[in-house]
Amino acid sequence: MRLKDKVAIITGAASGIGKGTAELFAQEGAAVVVADLPASPGEEVAAAIRAAGGRAEFAPVDVTDAAQVQAMVDGVAARYGRIDVIYNNAGLPQAFTPIEEVTDEYFERLMAVNVKGVFLGSRAVVPHMKRQGSGVILATASTAGVRPRPGLNVYSATKGAVIAFTKALALELAPFGIRVNAINPVATDTPMLPGFIGGGDAEAGRQNFLKTIPLGRLAQPLDIARAALFLASEEASLITGVDLEVDGGRCV
Ligand SMILES: NC(=O)c1ccc[n+]([C@@H]2O[C@H](COP(=O)([O-])OP(=O)(O)OC[C@H]3O[C@@H](n4cnc5c(N)ncnc54)[C@H](O)[C@@H]3O)[C@@H](O)[C@H]2O)c1
Repeated sequence: MRLKDKVAIITGAASGIGKGTAELFAQEGAAVVVADLPASPGEEVAAAIRAAGGRAEFAPVDVTDAAQVQAMVDGVAARYGRIDVIYNNAGLPQAFTPIEEVTDEYFERLMAVNVKGVFLGSRAVVPHMKRQGSGVILATASTAGVRPRPGLNVYSATKGAVIAFTKALALELAPFGIRVNAINPVATDTPMLPGFIGGGDAEAGRQNFLKTIPLGRLAQPLDIARAALFLASEEASLITGVDLEVDGGRCV
């Protein structure tokens, strides 16, 4: 077991990549906090992990709300005595949108979830991790953060920000034994995927994504979960400040 007795918070864990990672982390021995919006199926995800013999609880939280994130993180630290991993994964997609049609509200919402959410989760765990002298902070960025597509203007900016933030934190927190890394998934087969295509033809959109992936398939949540497991585990003990592409060669 690669995360035996570790305590891991995963945001956006009620669906897609976060859900797949929660399941894998629990199989590898971690106590998993399934952090997601109150209206999400987070409780079902946690209950299914418990039914399979794992340790999991649902923590309803909006990652854009500083007070909620702080209370969730401090509650986990109080209940479990430590926080070994936070995976700041919650995010929103952007449908292909010409820049002149992007509204202020849309820009602010995407920044709030995709960037501020990563900042708030990271800031809240750091005092606990500094006290422990160890910890792992992960974030889901995207290939869009390094190889943007036309029409994904704001989304790409949010993911670029997450990558730069990850690298800055990696340097800042290395003296405290805290590693900070990001993962750049290529188009991944989750409920989010149609959100990138918007009102267009979903199958055509999927084929368009596929054409750009040299290995010829979309990512599955388990592909990303395995990368997160590696980065969270002791096997990656000398790895910090990377944005790891899990992309079938798309960014080459
Ligand atoms: N699916 C892809 O093609 C793809 C590709 C690259 C990166 N990503 C990134 O991967 C991450 C996970 O995406 P996914 O594909 O699993 O999507 P998903 O829609 O399946 O899951 C996202 C989860 O985030 C939660 N969430 C959204 N806003 C939240 C908030 N304010 N507070 C708490 N939780 C919130 C949702 O409830 C949902 O459960 C995102 O950051 C996304 O940008 C996805």
